[in-house]
Amino acid sequence: MKILVTGGAGFIGSHVVDAYLTAGHEVAVLDNMSTGREDNVNSGATIHRVDVRNMDDVQAAVASFQPEVINHHAAQSEVPKSVADPGYDASVNLVGGLNVLKAAVDNGVRKIVFSSTGGALYGEPDIVPADEDHPIRPLSPYGTSKYAFEQYLAMFQRTFGLNFTVLRYANVYGARQDFFAEEGRVIAIFASRMIEGKPVTIDGDGSQSRDMLHVGDVAIANLAALDTGDGGTYHVSSGIPVTINDLFRKLALVTEYKDEPRFGPPRKGDVYRIALDNSRALEQLGWRPRILLEEGLRLTVDYFREQIARLRT
Ligand SMILES: NC(=O)c1ccc[n+]([C@@H]2O[C@H](COP(=O)([O-])OP(=O)(O)OC[C@H]3O[C@@H](n4cnc5c(N)ncnc54)[C@H](O)[C@@H]3O)[C@@H](O)[C@H]2O)c1
Repeated sequence: MKILVTGGAGFIGSHVVDAYLTAGHEVAVLDNMSTGREDNVNSGATIHRVDVRNMDDVQAAVASFQPEVINHHAAQSEVPKSVADPGYDASVNLVGGLNVLKAAVDNGVRKIVFSSTGGALYGEPDIVPADEDHPIRPLSPYGTSKYAFEQYLAMFQRTFGLNFTVLRYANVYGARQDFFAEEGRVIAIFASRMIEGKPVTIDGDGSQSRDMLHVGDVAIANLAALDTGDGGTYHVSSGIPVTINDLFRKLALVTEYKDEPRFGPPRKGDVYRIALDNSRALEQLGWRPRILLEEGLRLTVDYFREQIARLRT
């Protein structure tokens, strides 16, 4: 089928493009390259260099490609940036997203697959692992705009018959993640610093935990959502909380890093312990994570080793 992947030049979107092409689909990418990179994009996909905030350009791209499904990954995807500039976050994640939905309706698109967040919706969860029915209480403009867009999707389905599936991701890691990023992206940052023998600082005492999922598993969930999960919302997660201290130790083993971590002040507003129950995705999408943390970390370290070696030459 013909699939348009918005944000397909970014970290996660580019892996989704690869999975769709491997499965034999015809893929186009819509991206403004603000955080994405053209060389992330598989040469089998065509590229529309378009900003989702520009309605005319979005309409033109959708009208020319005529996709059956739009997989919507384009976003302002950083929590700290959303706190610093909530208006920009909303302009991309809400106004831009709505331009995509309007173009989808106008061009007879069957379905939207939307990459939402599980990590930024629930605040400090009452239960770990939290399921999809956990009360919603985001702590950032980013979590709020993602949830608001989920509500728009439900409305577009009721009013215009546009089908959708919402995938709420855990903390995703793997190849092509931006390892220069200062915030979040803990594995990319730890791995790249360990490979280079640089000091590693843990925010807080490291006992806080996260649900980490390899990007390869995320891509397969996006494949499953093409034909299943209509109207549904699903956690795409490992379901297992892992502490930052544990991540440090596992990565130190893989990279043969001998130094002890440094400990900095805890990050304000950070959730302490979270994991996301993924049993609904198993029941209704037939999806479950396959890549164990240790294996995922090895794959990721291999990738960053290559990148760092390339930058040095
Ligand atoms: N990384 C995670 O752990 C995680 C967790 C939950 C949800 N998500 C969601 O997954 C999606 C992809 O995230 P990512 O980590 O790959 O981030 P990313 O920044 O690598 O990807 C976002 C892509 O969207 C593009 N983009 C940004 N603004 C745009 C605009 N105005 N017009 C067109 N394209 C634009 C960027 O160039 C980039 O290619 C996002 O929607 C994000 O909110 C990510």
